[in-house]
Amino acid sequence: MAKKIKITETALRDAHQSLLATRMTTEEMLPILPELDKIGFYSLECWGGATFDSCLRFLNEDPWQRLRTIRDNCPNTKLQMLFRGQNMLGYRHYADDVLEYFVQRSVANGIDILRIFDALNDIKNLKSAINAAKKEKAEVQVAISYTTGPVFTDEYYVEYAKRIADAGADTICIKDMAALLTPYNTEKLVKAIKKEVDLPLQVHTHYTSGLASMCLLKGIEAGADMIDTAISPLALGTSHAPTESMVAALAGSEYDTGIDLVALTKVRDYFMTLREKYIKSGLLDPKMLATDANALIYQVPGGMLSNLLSQLKQAGKEDQLTEVLMEVPRVREDSGYPPLVTPTSQIVGTQAVFNVITGERYKMCTNEFKDMVAGKYGTTPMPIDPDFRKKIIGDMQPVDCRPADLIAPELDKLKEEAAQYTVQEEDVLSYAMFPKVAADFFKKRRATELGVNPDMLDSEQKIYPV
Ligand code: CO
Repeated sequence: MAKKIKITETALRDAHQSLLATRMTTEEMLPILPELDKIGFYSLECWGGATFDSCLRFLNEDPWQRLRTIRDNCPNTKLQMLFRGQNMLGYRHYADDVLEYFVQRSVANGIDILRIFDALNDIKNLKSAINAAKKEKAEVQVAISYTTGPVFTDEYYVEYAKRIADAGADTICIKDMAALLTPYNTEKLVKAIKKEVDLPLQVHTHYTSGLASMCLLKGIEAGADMIDTAISPLALGTSHAPTESMVAALAGSEYDTGIDLVALTKVRDYFMTLREKYIKSGLLDPKMLATDANALIYQVPGGMLSNLLSQLKQAGKEDQLTEVLMEVPRVREDSGYPPLVTPTSQIVGTQAVFNVITGERYKMCTNEFKDMVAGKYGTTPMPIDPDFRKKIIGDMQPVDCRPADLIAPELDKLKEEAAQYTVQEEDVLSYAMFPKVAADFFKKRRATELGVNPDMLDSEQKIYPV
């Protein structure tokens, strides 16, 4: 029986997050949006993840305006965002009132699909986001953070997939952020989940180790319904399998995507010009495009590897990278096997660096590591040894409930704090995610409006009396 495979194009979010440090601007996206809208993609992943932070911090752009621009220019294709569960687009847990408001404004500004995940695969951390998205009548996709390790068997993932289905998800995604999937593991895992859970299943993997298109194909043969790809100029390397190649591979088969390869040429040509520009400016490092099977050896995401190296460089201990890479799995084991994805990849990575450069394991612990061991990020996949926990957190109270239950409503307080800056209701949410960065952005925005230098504005956004 023929089954049309659906494609999520990631050029506007994960592809440039993976290759260009998330620096594609709205202006660069704009000319090609109408063409992307005509292709017949299942969805365009275009918002959330690191794009929100990058807009405010590096591009001097309002992320909400970006979303509205994409919506206006792509009226026919579903727009998809990546949402880190109770962390949303920030790095801490937020109260439910902020989360509900964020989801409501995201949908109101144009999001159709929320891809929601939790770094620890703790279903408790997803329930508010799932319910909020359902309330706004958005499509809810819950992503499983895929990783490897003794506890991460197919049974573990099937169990989690069942909980995701029970929580009300419309679709499920296997999110292989670190490119750890291999073709035959993908086949086994997809089969196992599809056998037990009757929901459309998407496969998201990265090309880092050179296996992505094989994984997608085996996943499709095993029953996957949707795949993530990137148009070829922004594909391969740390990004995704090329859209055109997957469309061509499936064309004429029982899995035909229905997408016209010729129509993709225009999109490809446009992004090829951008790619050349990025290579010239140094934004796209050709090294990122090389195949690197080290991901399979070290089992850490590409971004984490470069973070570890830069932390070691700062400490003048670059020669200890191998020790750190061997320490990472030990820290994971001690701390309940967290999958390595934002923010746990940073937490585990930094702790491994400390353990190695101080010469004594856990002599120094970061607050984030203490919080994770205390349960403040949620329940870890494996229980943490009580003696180890005690050693790390001391007298700190361990958390067993949903961490966000301990956070009082905070929207009103944030609204008050951000009142001086806000010109649209979404501004308070930008402020909630990144208070300092958003405040700087708002200040620049106001200064541009007044035609003055941002330094001339006081804390109330008024021009200093001269
Ligand atoms: Co990804």
